[in-house]
Amino acid sequence: MVKTHPMWNDFPNVQASLLECLELIIEKTTIENKEIEQTVIDLIESQGKLLRPAYFLLFSRLGNATQDAHKRITSAAASTEVLHLATLIHDDIIDESAMRRGSETVQSKHGKDVAVYTGDLLISVYFELLADATDSVDIIQLNTQSMKRVLLGEINQMTNVYNTDITYEDYLKSIKGKTAQLFELSCYEGAYFGQCDPEIIGQSRSIGQNIGIAFQMLDDILDYTQTPESLSKPVLNDVKQGIYTLPIILGLETHKEAFLPLLKKGEQLSESDLAALVSLLHETNCIERAREIAKSYSDKALASIDTLPSHPEKDALYSLTKTLLTRHY
Ligand code: IPE
Ligand code: IPE
Ligand code: MG
Ligand code: MG
Repeated sequence: MVKTHPMWNDFPNVQASLLECLELIIEKTTIENKEIEQTVIDLIESQGKLLRPAYFLLFSRLGNATQDAHKRITSAAASTEVLHLATLIHDDIIDESAMRRGSETVQSKHGKDVAVYTGDLLISVYFELLADATDSVDIIQLNTQSMKRVLLGEINQMTNVYNTDITYEDYLKSIKGKTAQLFELSCYEGAYFGQCDPEIIGQSRSIGQNIGIAFQMLDDILDYTQTPESLSKPVLNDVKQGIYTLPIILGLETHKEAFLPLLKKGEQLSESDLAALVSLLHETNCIERAREIAKSYSDKALASIDTLPSHPEKDALYSLTKTLLTRHY
């Protein structure tokens, strides 16, 4: 039996639709190769947060779509999670990561071949679900463009590895692509498929982008403040691999001389170096400052959500977004 992350127990309406999306993904990924098929089922059962389809569904309910649109909405909402899953599997290969959602990653458990193929299978299923949902060339184009922007964000991040002159703007450019793009797409498509009024469709993109930026910033903060157990994935890997995220960038801006000797150790950073780095981030208020910046983006999203017409799902949208920045998972 497929279950959702427990966070959705408080939103039973959304939970029921999310379960439909998960069932549909399993149906679409039924293939002859049982190892790869099971890999997808394991992922679906691993209780990811399902944020992208959830934002899609919440936005869709602010609109005027009738029951006729139900199947299309489920397919398109599922497609956002499928693209997300493909990027996670490929990301864990690139990051050589061994844990995701509390379980061994596909690349670690089954090897890189199976991981590449599973990611590719999911990308083909992503387009299949989209094609089931729409015959609009504009929507297909929007999706190809979004996928490209996610990739360009990742490439931009790669270009800056071990760059101790990296700026806040460089970082923002990467996270707008690699993470915020998919949140933007999900919110927009939800509003579009739900047949929302044009003003809501217009607002949905920037709301999604601000949520995505805040979400990635918080993820990058949690990397320095949480344990692998609480996050269900490894911590402190980014810095060893030369990926300098918001807290480190703030440290480099204001206390470069203190950070450089540690960062220069690169992959050789020992456990005690890492502990020293974490202490330094706290002492120089970088964690706190990063939190404030993340909050400024989620506040922008909340202020915009607040102006949406009154609707029960608007309250769910607001409270979900509000709690995102207080999460520890
Ligand atoms: C992980 O995304 C990748 C980032 C953008 C930080 P999520 O934190 O939404 O991952 P799951 O789907 O819940 O595992
Ligand atoms: C996640 O990026 C993958 C994408 C957003 C495409 P990260 O490497 O920053 O996230 P985690 O920490 O592995 O989830
Ligand atoms: Mg990565
Ligand atoms: Mg990663």
